[in-house]
Amino acid sequence: MNRKKVIAGNWKMNKTPSETSAFIAQLSDKVKQTNDIVICAVPSVCIPAALKTAKRSRIKIAAQNMHYEDNGAYTGEISANMLVDLGVKYVIIGHSERRQYFGETDTTVNKKVLKALKAGLKPIICVGESLEQREMGVTTDYVRYQVGYALNGVTAEDMKNIIIAYEPIWAIGTGRTASNDQANEVCNTIRKVIAEKYGRRIANATLIQYGGSVNVKNAKELFSMSDIDGGLVGGASLKIDDFDKIVNYNK
Ligand code: PGA
Repeated sequence: MNRKKVIAGNWKMNKTPSETSAFIAQLSDKVKQTNDIVICAVPSVCIPAALKTAKRSRIKIAAQNMHYEDNGAYTGEISANMLVDLGVKYVIIGHSERRQYFGETDTTVNKKVLKALKAGLKPIICVGESLEQREMGVTTDYVRYQVGYALNGVTAEDMKNIIIAYEPIWAIGTGRTASNDQANEVCNTIRKVIAEKYGRRIANATLIQYGGSVNVKNAKELFSMSDIDGGLVGGASLKIDDFDKIVNYNK
């Protein structure tokens, strides 16, 4: 199965709107030769600047979060329709930092996934085990559970708009990357869950990324693994030279 690769930078709470424009302008030049999907998930206030600068390039812009309600008394929140109105196409849902610091649960993740799809956004759904869970040997069970929960109510037809990012929490921002085999094994498990739910054809077409300390040195090997279709890159996506090399990992 020849799946596309999707390489997404997750900027987290970094860069101002002006810094965003400057970075996206530089990156636009670097991605001209790639056939992969390149995404920058920028802070919400940077989205207009990012979209404007990315307009004539192949860079896609993502939001890092959204609310599952259409509108209402949710101070500080952003709806799917607001993102769609701006021209956003992708949204990260359920990043472990949102789960850890902002009360995101498997239930809210599922609600957000369904709302994003309904609004026409493509969700990048993050799943992954903690260090404690890995050491206890429950990684497979836990990730299966998370994926199953997140996809509850998602139709086979919707699956072409879903990206899943496997991000072991112990590898995020720690410099401790999962080994190629560890990462591939869990991405393969995720593909099996999708196959059980939607059949082999859909499972084989679904894009599954690895995230967690992806860098210039390990990107190529990770992205070459059989079940890993690119990466969700945090720290290394903020430096133009590094992200250039990661996006062009096969040059
Ligand atoms: P990292 O972050 O690459 O800095 O580990 C990845 C992520 O949180 O998506």
